[in-house]
Amino acid sequence: MYTDENKKFRPKKIADIEKEIVTIAQSGLPTGRVFLADGDAMMLPFKRLKEILELIQLHLPQVTRVSSYCLPRNLTNKTVEQLAELQVLGLKLVYVGCESGDDEVLALINKGETYQSSVVALNKIKQAGMKSSVMILNGLGGPELSKQHALNSAKLMNETQPNFLSTLVVSFPMGEQRFAEQFAKEFDGRTRQPFRQLEQHELFTEMEVLLSNLELTKTVFRSDHASNYLVLKGTLGKDKQILLSQVQMALQQPGVIPLRQEWQRGL
Ligand SMILES: C[S@@+](CC[C@H](N)C(=O)[O-])C[C@H]1O[C@@H](n2cnc3c(N)ncnc32)[C@H](O)[C@@H]1O
Repeated sequence: MYTDENKKFRPKKIADIEKEIVTIAQSGLPTGRVFLADGDAMMLPFKRLKEILELIQLHLPQVTRVSSYCLPRNLTNKTVEQLAELQVLGLKLVYVGCESGDDEVLALINKGETYQSSVVALNKIKQAGMKSSVMILNGLGGPELSKQHALNSAKLMNETQPNFLSTLVVSFPMGEQRFAEQFAKEFDGRTRQPFRQLEQHELFTEMEVLLSNLELTKTVFRSDHASNYLVLKGTLGKDKQILLSQVQMALQQPGVIPLRQEWQRGL
């Protein structure tokens, strides 16, 4: 999403943000929720985030929930107390693109995060009273790393118990060459087979490993993003067996469970 040369990341000036908030307030549109677009607003310092949330409260007092993307490393300079203050000011939910719980996969995709940094961030979010919504990418490790990607992602989720978990299928709108080159790199002194995208049945097998290893007590699970072939929705652990049987049916009895066609998918 952020590889376009013409789309450079920069924080907006606070005056521009206020203008946008006022425009929305004056439009009369029903605004119950706000998402701090576009990239990762949590990279802003605490003081700036506080200012933005106060402006939202001032001009849009009816807003009940503000949310944002949040890279784990963007929380290292913020204390639990500061995050709790942002929570009281309306920032109730952050979307954390963990992508994987496997350190080898994370290194190969240059995420800049690890299993441990993700644990620290997710725990901090919880301690501050905010909710977390985690994204894991189905197919991210290619065939060779599929199993360890699924197992370690399940382990990360079990250890951190996020409020929401969604899986998306990794997609390559700009071709997979750059990604494949990354996978040819060394990690822990070893190189891998060339990367390739998983076939549909391999994606489902990876989901089966992930789901069967998840031990969640109360997490809303969604696999309904436009990139997914198989739509899954439920609450974990309550619906674990139902979701697993849907994945197994997609694997063992193709055609019985409706799947999204290629033209219906997107990123
Ligand atoms: C717009 S990105 C912002 C992520 C945020 N900066 C973070 O790291 O938490 C939101 C999510 O979309 C998903 N995503 C990004 N590129 C993708 C791709 N090529 N295929 C599938 N999902 C992708 C990832 O899960 C990513 O965390």
